[in-house]
Amino acid sequence: MPGNTPQPAPTSLGLQFPDGFIWGAATSAYQIEGATAIDGRGPSVWDTFSRKPGKVRNGETGDVAADHYHRWADDLDLIRDLGLRSYRFSISWPRVIPGGRGPVNKKGLDFYRRLVDGLRERGVTPMVTLYHWDTPHELQVDGGWENRDTAYRFADYAAVLAEALGDAVPNWLTLNEPKTIVQNGYLYGSHAPGHRNPAAAYVVAHHQLLGHGLAVQAMRPHLSASTRIGPALNLHPCYPADETNEARARTILHDGYENRLYLDPILKGAYPQDVLDDVATFSPMQEHIKDGDLDVIGSPVELLAVQYYCPLYVTADGQTVQKHRTSEAFWQQIYPEGMYDILTRIKKDYGDIALTITENGLPTPDTLGDDGTVRDDGRIAFLRDHFSAAHRAITDGVNLESYHVWSLMDNFEWEQGFDQRWGLVYVDYADQRRVPKASAHWYSQVIRDNGL
Ligand code: NOJ
Repeated sequence: MPGNTPQPAPTSLGLQFPDGFIWGAATSAYQIEGATAIDGRGPSVWDTFSRKPGKVRNGETGDVAADHYHRWADDLDLIRDLGLRSYRFSISWPRVIPGGRGPVNKKGLDFYRRLVDGLRERGVTPMVTLYHWDTPHELQVDGGWENRDTAYRFADYAAVLAEALGDAVPNWLTLNEPKTIVQNGYLYGSHAPGHRNPAAAYVVAHHQLLGHGLAVQAMRPHLSASTRIGPALNLHPCYPADETNEARARTILHDGYENRLYLDPILKGAYPQDVLDDVATFSPMQEHIKDGDLDVIGSPVELLAVQYYCPLYVTADGQTVQKHRTSEAFWQQIYPEGMYDILTRIKKDYGDIALTITENGLPTPDTLGDDGTVRDDGRIAFLRDHFSAAHRAITDGVNLESYHVWSLMDNFEWEQGFDQRWGLVYVDYADQRRVPKASAHWYSQVIRDNGL
């Protein structure tokens, strides 16, 4: 493995994970690939958004990022050498279908075939996300997810991938964090496409969910019976900020917006009525829910991918406050028990669907030391505590089968650019050198031991 091997000596917790538990790491296309104008790739909303002044810290873009498009083979070696058994990555829609609709770009498809085959040759199971926010620019010109047609174009794209890669990918994820597009993309404007339009935001929620369901249906004919599909949802356990009845009531509605709005239609085939009623006061969402849509959205899935970063505390007037220490990402309070709470809650409310953690991680102010090492002890402590919480959930009967740390390597953290480092592997952007951090070495040991 490249880099030195500083060995932090965390005390053993005596926790053994079940045999067959799968450890991995995750990335996404726009955040690592670069090569945005190469081999026929079309522009995405993030190419256009990141070029607008003031949208991304230091005016940075994903044009080069971690140059993974060119360094993929070395990166796969690194994945193998770290001992990861599963690698979750996303496919760039505009690399495969440059205009979002219409002709398929063979060179784009070939890149992902090489990636999938390269992983399997190295004994690593690929987990593919179809969509991690890089909507083809041309679809956005026509309204993006505000336009119902985008859901159908997404299903076409999903079918192309299932046909091309279905034989080699056992687990497929449709949308990554549809809630983040709703909130950051359409409520706060901090992510592409950068709108502040609550009315549109929940139309976007519905069309994304419809896209998920249509994609599931479009992929099935191309996949074997054992291939699994599911959504990747960022879930936030919500707690009342105080013991008042008002705070409790507000917390229930807040949980609706954060969690049930996505979980219920996908896993129960129905929108939560309290959220629908509230949304109706400011958004025409319901006019966009056509007969049969919920049957499509509720198409059976076999896997639920959970992304857990932090809890939310809700006040009597419906605001959120922070109760724990936050990370370098101002929005992230550090609360490992929230991982246990969200996992056990899913089992209680949605049954025993197979669960995978597809993201959990921490940004730390990492620097490359003179001795060539990166000491990220804070990340090790964070992961240790979250792994422990996941272990406790498994002990209590939760059907959690794998865990993917966010992220394999430092990358383009959206509006924060490259300053925020989330990787197990340090990327020196000056020369694109990869240096596994102390956390990567520690994680390799966890994987070897299948325990802590
Ligand atoms: C969730 C997103 O899926 C990912 O792209 C992002 O980098 C992490 N959260 C950290 O913010």
